[in-house]
Amino acid sequence: MRKFIIDTDTASDDAVALVMALQDPEIDLRAITVVAGNVPLNQAVQNALYTVELCGKDTPVYSGCAKPILRDLETAQDVHGADGMGDIGLPLAGRAPAPGHAVDVLRQVIRENAGDITLVTLGPLTNVALALLREPELAAHVAHCYIMGGIGEGHGNVTPSAEFNIWVDPEAAKIVFESGMKMTMVGWDISWKYATFDPGQAAEIREIGTPLAKFVVDIQATLTEYAIESSHLAGFDLPDPVTMAVALDPGIATCRDYRVDVTTGDGLQRGITVVDVLGVMGRGPQMTVATGVDRAAFVDILKRSVSRPV
Ligand code: RIB
Ligand code: CA
Repeated sequence: MRKFIIDTDTASDDAVALVMALQDPEIDLRAITVVAGNVPLNQAVQNALYTVELCGKDTPVYSGCAKPILRDLETAQDVHGADGMGDIGLPLAGRAPAPGHAVDVLRQVIRENAGDITLVTLGPLTNVALALLREPELAAHVAHCYIMGGIGEGHGNVTPSAEFNIWVDPEAAKIVFESGMKMTMVGWDISWKYATFDPGQAAEIREIGTPLAKFVVDIQATLTEYAIESSHLAGFDLPDPVTMAVALDPGIATCRDYRVDVTTGDGLQRGITVVDVLGVMGRGPQMTVATGVDRAAFVDILKRSVSRPV
């Protein structure tokens, strides 16, 4: 069994990534920590709790930071829906998270499983950054951190050069990127290129016919509209699930090691992941960057996760 901890701003693509981990018999998911991002914190907590319940599991869910370290929260409810889960009328309220703050839980779980825990981040890095600031030695205790965030080789989704998770809390991202943790960055370029589902490809998943197969497609209702109209894609894209697939099976990704920095300015200077491909700044790489993914392998992992009985 591999021990995982997932930090998420649970909306429609995060939920699919949670299903992939919750449904994997090889994964011991120790905790889900929640951060504000796609939706306000409490909604993200409810979305995570609903997803865990749908998978018939009792993985504890912890509430974390309600806003970025320095900046006001900017949500993506225009992308994922007001409730973050496609506004299809799911009962996403009334469930109680486990007691304790996500930042403290990240510290405790990482410390208790030093060297043997994989951290997967699916949202802004606020919780993770604060845990690392409070306890810098955590960086050495994380076996590997898989980050959905930034742009490897491509364009942004909030500004031409910035991806949402990094853009929301660039100061947190800078802290994490400079922490010394072993990290793999799966940028939105990977989702755009390898994790887009046109209506036929979405139907192929939904027609597996299980409640989870219908869930992972139906909650993309708002994202589908946004992806087609604003991202100029053929259908919804799944950045968090393709990142989770890389965490579950690193061999499906093609990667290069680069030095990656984060800009913390405003406007067009906010939240850019600056990838030093040629090493012109003379600083050694600190980030493994995914430059490609085996789409067939990703889709197979996704299909297997929703086919398993809960
Ligand atoms: O830019 C894509 C990322 O922002 C994904 O994690 C999505 O869930 C949103 O958080
Ligand atoms: Ca997310």
